[in-house]
Amino acid sequence: MDARSIIAKLRQREVPETEDLRWFAMGLADGTVSDAQAGAFAMAVCMGGLGPKGRAALTLAMRDSGDVLQWDLDGPVIDKHSTGGVGDCVSLLLAPALAECGAFVPMISGRGLGHTGGTLDKMESIAGLIIGVSEDRLAAIVAQVGCAIVGASAGIAPADKRLYAIRDVTATVESLDLITASILSKKLAASPDALVLDVKVGSGAFMKTMDEARALATALCETANAAGCRTTAIISDMNQPLVPSLGNALEVAEIMKVLTGEVTAGPLVSLSAALGGVVLTDAGLVDDVQDGADRILAALRDGRVAERFGRMVAAQGGPVAFVDTWARFLPEANVIREVAAPEAGYVTAIDGESLGLAVVALGGGRQVESDVIDPSVGLSGLARLGDFVERGQPLAVIHAGREDLVRGAEAMVRQAITMDTDPVTAPDLIHERVG
Ligand code: URA
Repeated sequence: MDARSIIAKLRQREVPETEDLRWFAMGLADGTVSDAQAGAFAMAVCMGGLGPKGRAALTLAMRDSGDVLQWDLDGPVIDKHSTGGVGDCVSLLLAPALAECGAFVPMISGRGLGHTGGTLDKMESIAGLIIGVSEDRLAAIVAQVGCAIVGASAGIAPADKRLYAIRDVTATVESLDLITASILSKKLAASPDALVLDVKVGSGAFMKTMDEARALATALCETANAAGCRTTAIISDMNQPLVPSLGNALEVAEIMKVLTGEVTAGPLVSLSAALGGVVLTDAGLVDDVQDGADRILAALRDGRVAERFGRMVAAQGGPVAFVDTWARFLPEANVIREVAAPEAGYVTAIDGESLGLAVVALGGGRQVESDVIDPSVGLSGLARLGDFVERGQPLAVIHAGREDLVRGAEAMVRQAITMDTDPVTAPDLIHERVG
């Protein structure tokens, strides 16, 4: 076998054999395949596609290019993945909530990508917390606490690490086959029994239309189920941020408001319950989706999720008393400034991508890989679709590290929020279930 003949097959619109794809994935991991060959492979897959069988074969080949975790626990191992949005901090709430319902949750998460925030960056805004743990330490935390939120160790899906970096610079990120193989190779390496996918659609998501979201949800569910992991996707709305704050520490603060009972309802709570209900059902821990959602809500209400979250934070090196005194351990920005509405009116559209980019421009995300994030910055108090805002009242509050960054962020927020004299109804939070 050699890289050239595999690429040539793809160029002729043939799908390589499973063995070819396994060889290629191992070659990506061990360096036998060159950067040029990896780039040509990615472009050929992008142009010709692999079809469901080839996509599943590439996913498993990439998973098997590294370590596949094994568990010996007295409950199912489950996980959740989101395709990325703005203000999407569900993972931080859901991992301890699922653990509280009898599951074990080794959540291997990612950093911010483009305009979207990353779960790992949010976790790292908690003073002292570590997301880079060894596979042995991950196993110990999951066995002890029931959940952990960590980064992929070097041993997890190394073929994806290499191919992802090459896709990023060869205009080959947007391939259904490559996205599926990339996401699932990492998720399946943690050997979950069940997985729930939150596929986002709308202005703050990568998928802007329902057709695109449905295609991705279907490809992900078919591939993961074919690999023996019970998987369902929820297509959820991202035409406005999930919570009224964007930014790393600010989103952790939103989580703490729910965990401590200050906020008891809203999109974050509803979506967490819906995703939890689905995956608890798939894992056989509850009879049906409603039962699962109710258990999540009950565990949130009576403080059990907060207690479990605190144990996870402490096990990952964060403050032992985080849940009781969380505000002390989250950084605050130097400059805090309201963005006033230029006229009175209803909020009729929110460009989530622009809001996400405003947070990146404030230093809350990365423009290049080497950028160091400022966890304190972002936006809070964001108006929601359908809100009526009086002239001069705040559309949002900017949290910036420096005065000179405020003006640019202010212009981006104003441009991202459309106002009109007639009200609109916000779209439903959950559009469809797939799988
Ligand atoms: N997230 C991933 O891990 N890979 C992709 O290709 C896209 C999103």
